[in-house]
Amino acid sequence: DRQIWLTRHGESADNVSGRIGGDSSLSEKGRKFAACLSRFVHAQKMLFRQKQLENYREKIGSSTPPPEPPERNFLVWTSMLKRTIETVESLDPKEFDIMHIRFLNEIYAGRCEGKTYQEIEQSYPEEFNARKNNKLYYRYPGMGGESYLDVIHRVNPLIIELERMTDNILVVTHRVVLRIILAYFLDVEKEKVPDMDVPLHTLYCLQPKAYGSELTKWKYDD
Ligand code: G3H
Repeated sequence: DRQIWLTRHGESADNVSGRIGGDSSLSEKGRKFAACLSRFVHAQKMLFRQKQLENYREKIGSSTPPPEPPERNFLVWTSMLKRTIETVESLDPKEFDIMHIRFLNEIYAGRCEGKTYQEIEQSYPEEFNARKNNKLYYRYPGMGGESYLDVIHRVNPLIIELERMTDNILVVTHRVVLRIILAYFLDVEKEKVPDMDVPLHTLYCLQPKAYGSELTKWKYDD
């Protein structure tokens, strides 16, 4: 079965200060998660190959063996923001096919970029309440500001690609985008997406099956 690995970036400097949006680098803790993630994903790739070869040997039994099956490609997609790119920095590009995709960027908060939720509540109380009352439809004010629905639409072509591909893949993205991808594969209704619990330093593995996707979850223990 092919595997879709999903996670958020490691903890960033803005996560530490509670600021949304922006393009900050990883914190010390975030870098440790990134290093551990790379080792873990590398080990999982080896394990997948080992199982693939075991299955093949079981099938051929003692007859003259045909050539071994080729190893499955392992893709890595990140957003174009530093915190996701830095999260995969120690993966070996000879082993993984790494791509940075703008459609995986975090929701763009327009005028609220770089602020804490408390600052937004103080500077734009009406905006803060409007979002609280309807997080799915609420669009951030200012040029390029997005809503959850906007992000659902921009991520959709990537979800279709994820569903269609037969390669294994690791997607390193952001809270809103990860909620949307998980919700699609786990059949979560749209209204519930903005409140899904998707913490940092948690790795998800989806294995699509005929009846739906199987989910396994790992929590990084720092
Ligand atoms: O920077 C964006 C936040 O991670 C979005 O989270 O939609 O729950 O406010 P939220």
